[in-house]
Amino acid sequence: MERTFVMVKPDGVRRGLVGEILGRFERKGFRLVGLRMLRIGRELAEAHYAEHREKPFFQGLVEFITSGPVVAFVLEGPNAIAEVRKMMGATHPKDALPGTIRGDFATTIDENVIHGSASPEDAAREIALFFREEELL
Ligand code: TYD
Repeated sequence: MERTFVMVKPDGVRRGLVGEILGRFERKGFRLVGLRMLRIGRELAEAHYAEHREKPFFQGLVEFITSGPVVAFVLEGPNAIAEVRKMMGATHPKDALPGTIRGDFATTIDENVIHGSASPEDAAREIALFFREEELL
């Protein structure tokens, strides 16, 4: 069993894709163990994307992720981290296959609808950034 952190980004929430995205993961068989809607502040955005601090796209990424509400959740299941990444599709929607979330719902890398943890270390760090232990059921 593995847990991963997933987030529908502001573009996905604005476009009304929350139910579609949550539904795909539920139908796949992952268990929803935590769920929050929030507006991310600058400090949390910079902590969440700390690995990209030096990248040229960092400021734009922080602006975007703080631009409106997000829906953050934790999923649990066998190989959850890699399976969720597979269902998300490639980071750049031009490389994301049809049938994946980014392949079906996104066209540009700066607004690519969804985030999912990339590794067990990232999953543990990101879950702890967004959820208290007692919020995971
Ligand atoms: P990254 O962690 O590389 O991808 P993923 O979201 O698939 O784990 O990048 C984080 C986010 O940063 C990515 O979803 C979109 C944004 N980004 C850009 O805006 N431009 C870029 O060139 C890259 C690589 C990422």
